[in-house]
Amino acid sequence: MKLIFSRWAGATLAALALLLAGCGPATDTNVIKIGEYASLTGKEATFGQSSHNGTELAIDELNAAGGLLGKTLQLITEDNQSKAGESQTVVNKLIARDGVVAVLGEVASSRSLEAAPVCQNAKIPMISPSSTNPDVTKTGDYIFRVCFIDPFQGTVMADFAKKTLKVQNVAIFTDVKSDYSKGLAKFFKERHLANGGKVGAEFDFNGGDTDFKAQLTAIKATQPEAVFVPGYYTDVALICIQAKQLGLNVPLFGGDGWESDKLVEIGRDAVEGQHFSTHYHPDVGTPKSRQFVDAYKKRYNAAPDAMAALGYDSVMILADAIRRANAAEPAKIRDALAASKSFDAVTGMITMDANRDASKAAVILKVEGGKFKYLETVAP
Ligand code: PHE
Repeated sequence: MKLIFSRWAGATLAALALLLAGCGPATDTNVIKIGEYASLTGKEATFGQSSHNGTELAIDELNAAGGLLGKTLQLITEDNQSKAGESQTVVNKLIARDGVVAVLGEVASSRSLEAAPVCQNAKIPMISPSSTNPDVTKTGDYIFRVCFIDPFQGTVMADFAKKTLKVQNVAIFTDVKSDYSKGLAKFFKERHLANGGKVGAEFDFNGGDTDFKAQLTAIKATQPEAVFVPGYYTDVALICIQAKQLGLNVPLFGGDGWESDKLVEIGRDAVEGQHFSTHYHPDVGTPKSRQFVDAYKKRYNAAPDAMAALGYDSVMILADAIRRANAAEPAKIRDALAASKSFDAVTGMITMDANRDASKAAVILKVEGGKFKYLETVAP
């Protein structure tokens, strides 16, 4: 955290120096300004920090290789503190005050859904690295993503329940404050029923709650063989702990929102042996991925997770579009992004479909020995 703040302070001082020198950012024609909004602090801080790390690494690699169109890339990052309402404010600032030509973000679907209309109305392309709710890109033709969507992820985990967990009667426990959770719960249920499974219980929680015992007691009473929890890591860890305390000793499983080191730090033995789907694992080694993992480890002294890889990919696909457009103008960047085809990304090949979504494989991970172990890849 300290590092991030001191880097921000440095950037602020540099901006101030530019202003004092009489060449404010708005008049500087030697830079291409790219905005980023992320949850660097607050409830989902590890999401924002990881995706920011990947984003920053990509920007620095591009600049080290000479930038784009003879210009330097300038990344301007805003923290929305994981708070509802903040994303619109900070994205407005990035566009109106800073004059960015494109916006990168967010990880969480609810926050992407909040800021997407701002980008769409201003006709500034937005690329979400990892928001999977299908509605995000439906906002309009300026909104893109570099990840798969939840109708696919729900299918992957429903098939996993059938083939690997071999369970029939599954309970679903949904965070009603999160568009991601509501969507993934719905898509999982549809496929699970189509697979001949049964949903014996459906209960809700509010992200940020700390006591889930009432709902878990009610879920236990329906004698489920497993519980699907499409939530974010902090809530999920507490849910796993409390399920165990209540003697609800069946598999709990979920989606990409589980992915954080904090899941294991908080959940410890209660999350051991559980499964979730996500976008990427460093052990899945394409040459592109290996290069990225090496560079990431060198810089951050840690292995990258899915959000870091997707943050990196969001920058690289934008850079590719700017190159092909041969211009750093928002409308031309949009058109080039929409035409992205077979782009070789760290997380897999990206072709933008007609809805500006990427059709890509998912991976299933298992919590083992406090680490996330790669189990299998599921192609769309
Ligand atoms: N897909 C989640 C959402 O839409 C965010 C997420 C992506 C979380 C990748 C973890 C890893 O809200």
